[in-house]
Amino acid sequence: MSKFYITTPIFYVNAPPHLGHAYADIIADIIARYHRLRGDETFFLTGTDEHGAKVARAAEKAGVEIPKFVESVRENFRKLASVLNISNDDFIFTADEERHFPGAIKLWKKLEEAGDIYKGVYEGMYCVGHEAFITEKDLEDGKCPDHNEAPQIIKEENYFFRLSKYTEPLKKAVEFGELAILPKKRAHELSSLLEEGLRDISFSRPSKDISWGIPVPGDQTQTMYVWCDALANYISALGYGREDESKFQKFWPADVHLVGKDILRFHTAFWPAMLLSAGLPLPKTILVHGLVRVGGRKMSKTLGNVVDPFEIVKNYGADAFRYYLSREVGLFEDGEFTEEKFAAAYEGNLVKGVGNYVRRVSTMIESYFAGSLGEIGEERVAAVPLRKGSLDFLNIEKKSDSEIEFFSIPYFVNEILWKKYVEAFASYEVNRAADIAFGFLKELDSYVDDYKPFKLIETDKEKAEAVLWSLSYGALALAKMLYPFMPATSEEILKIYGVESFDQNSWKTFKVSKHAQLFPKKE
Ligand code: MSP
Repeated sequence: MSKFYITTPIFYVNAPPHLGHAYADIIADIIARYHRLRGDETFFLTGTDEHGAKVARAAEKAGVEIPKFVESVRENFRKLASVLNISNDDFIFTADEERHFPGAIKLWKKLEEAGDIYKGVYEGMYCVGHEAFITEKDLEDGKCPDHNEAPQIIKEENYFFRLSKYTEPLKKAVEFGELAILPKKRAHELSSLLEEGLRDISFSRPSKDISWGIPVPGDQTQTMYVWCDALANYISALGYGREDESKFQKFWPADVHLVGKDILRFHTAFWPAMLLSAGLPLPKTILVHGLVRVGGRKMSKTLGNVVDPFEIVKNYGADAFRYYLSREVGLFEDGEFTEEKFAAAYEGNLVKGVGNYVRRVSTMIESYFAGSLGEIGEERVAAVPLRKGSLDFLNIEKKSDSEIEFFSIPYFVNEILWKKYVEAFASYEVNRAADIAFGFLKELDSYVDDYKPFKLIETDKEKAEAVLWSLSYGALALAKMLYPFMPATSEEILKIYGVESFDQNSWKTFKVSKHAQLFPKKE
């Protein structure tokens, strides 16, 4: 059994959760659930980023004291995770003085000990929306185009982190595969940054201007700048800096930090440099996803095009939403969400796809075999193989016709399909893994059309039984592959076919039960 540690970014609590946050939660959950399915000891962390000017300003606007304000938005993020059926093992929030502060402070001290923190004067433009210093070339008509507001001009004393020192070490870490960045094009973005050479970064702000944060150790006049505070969550949650660091010892380094492309620089340059400075191992993979857009633009409160995930889940259920975001939106590209596309995918692939298949097969078993299929033995299963062409959707080159003609469904599932599915997840190609499951569903539908068990039952009951047995096995294999994506549906399918586990060896007899449509048709 190996360990697996995956994180989402921690979400800003300046506004309620939106579709983009749901996206991050869902993708990370899919990967975490896949690893649990494989038996890995998995730790999945999510949480909220609660400090900084942006959050303080939102609280002020709402006319609520900051701690009260952040607590209520935090609860909303917890609720989001719960309605989306997210299986996180922990939830860290940066205002947590007991669990988060010690880790952030210890990290700061380590960087200081390494001689990488110094005091200087910062002069520049600050975009509160980004919680980052920006430059002239980021502006359009004097405004930040993402937040539609002019930056603040700032001249102040800050502590700096000697990021420049880590340009070469980071190049090496990437070159020697110590730090993998996926997809490749995002690794190239880091390479270009490194080619330009990294510049030192501001690491604190004066407490008189921003006091909502963690005080700099040894200097109360300065507050840690959001990124040192926020990035530390990945280790503070594991107990780094607290009395018991055993979880940190066990799970660090992270196997995957899932991040959106807008926070690439922080995770591929700043964070690894900080870890190198502190003498800590680097995360294995930074998995960078695109943004889900609405109406062709980045979704943001400022632009007023925010999609509310709670509404969608209320209307369609969590699994449908999880399905759409993980299959119909490309992980590595920017995607687009529209209700029309979502409704069409729901109808086409869930109502008519998964739901119909499961119902159709179980209904036949009910009417022809009183709901029960016993063990039928390999020979009979092999006598009703998948038709020719069942490899097409897997993009496998066929060696010879004879080889593909005689796959029984269990053989196909265990020797070919599952391996392809595992391969897809090994490179975090979540969409491809979902495509494999849905490609298989299509094969199963064709298999029904090929053997026509509803006719076969009149002429050859034994063969019809073998066909329905194979189709049940197929339904369970589908359920297993869908588990990371649509956990509730998947577990429901197991129940419908009367088996208790995802272990293929236990799928010998089936006892189907009546059930409501998995995905009810929408008006
Ligand atoms: N607080 C920082 C992250 C600190 S991690 C140490 C932050 N928060 S955020 O709430 O603005 O964004 C959190 C994540 O949500 C980011 O990875 C971001 O890319 C993602 N998304 C925000 N909007 C999004 C979409 N419209 N689509 C997909 N993901 C998007 O940044």
